[in-house]
Amino acid sequence: MNVERILPQLLVGQNGLEIDSAQQWEELRRPELLELFAEHVYGRQPLQRPETMTFTAASQAGCLDGKAIRKSIHIDFSGENGGQGRIRLTLYVPADAAAGKKRYPAFLLFDHGRLSAVPEGDSPSSPFWPVEQILASGYAATMIAAEDIDPDEHDGFRNGVHGIFDPQDRPRAADAWGTIAAWAWGLSRAMDYLETDPDVDPARIAVIGHSRGGKTALWAGALDERIAMVVSNESGCTGAAVSRGKAGERVHQINKAFPHWFSENYKRYNHKEDELPVDQHLLLALIAPRLLYVSSAAEDEWADPVSEYLSLQLAEPVYRLFGADGVAAEPFPQLDSPLHTERCGYHVRAGQHDLTKVDWMYILGFANGRL
Ligand code: GCU
Repeated sequence: MNVERILPQLLVGQNGLEIDSAQQWEELRRPELLELFAEHVYGRQPLQRPETMTFTAASQAGCLDGKAIRKSIHIDFSGENGGQGRIRLTLYVPADAAAGKKRYPAFLLFDHGRLSAVPEGDSPSSPFWPVEQILASGYAATMIAAEDIDPDEHDGFRNGVHGIFDPQDRPRAADAWGTIAAWAWGLSRAMDYLETDPDVDPARIAVIGHSRGGKTALWAGALDERIAMVVSNESGCTGAAVSRGKAGERVHQINKAFPHWFSENYKRYNHKEDELPVDQHLLLALIAPRLLYVSSAAEDEWADPVSEYLSLQLAEPVYRLFGADGVAAEPFPQLDSPLHTERCGYHVRAGQHDLTKVDWMYILGFANGRL
């Protein structure tokens, strides 16, 4: 798109102060941006780790011809409203990990109904979730599913973690968490478990999501600094893509089609992206200096690859504060020519909106030696 985009400034605080060091970024700008995204876009998570949370090893079995172990973990919690929740985490580790030899870095996939049959299935690999390819690259593969955290429908916030934790005796606040913030909260609970698993290296976990899952991975990664790498695959509107001047899906369209995804406040910006106090490059910058990978598909005009790439370029000044470079100097890359810098990566794959084996090949290639 050839529009002039006037965007909120990355390195100027709300009080007008210029941010020119990593310390100022971490002490001033980063916290205020987290507040702005929580208040105006995703909504505030009312709690972090529930006091009642427990982990139970539900099952463990060999799989993939003895090459791997599949563990099934139940993450259980309850709320003051009396409700109970369970996130089922599936974890595949190479067989030698279980022998106590090594703690593996891991990819944590946030699934949104794409893999409904897989967690308990015998043959776990699919193009979306290529467990064998991930394990062969030297990583553990773990996943949780959206449906265990919050249903992907506008149910008046009565079910899922909203039903368990939201106050029922007063009207819902305009900055209360939407479903994407609830899902991001679920990813942090998966991190809580993974910190305790002897086969996983908790300092080397990449969170990955596709589309609405990519939006979720980004917000989780912004909030939770235990996450070492974030992968946003084709997350588009209110994910990686800059909203101002964006092609394809716009804020009013996402709010209409998915009224449960964001805070009520976000609806104030329907047709008014220019009035948002943030834009999505600021979200990407909240991942810095950790590893950040953004991927697009050429035919995915709804997500808008150009605006996704622009966002990654515009996040670079924060990486520079930490002494790392980004992709700002590079023009929009050729199809299937991944661009990998020290801390940031991008590719645009030929084809349609999806997470494919080709995406995984580029993403694993970036992680190799970095994560
Ligand atoms: C819809 C929605 C997008 C979303 C996508 C997906 O197309 O408009 O914002 O990313 O679904 O999750 O696949």
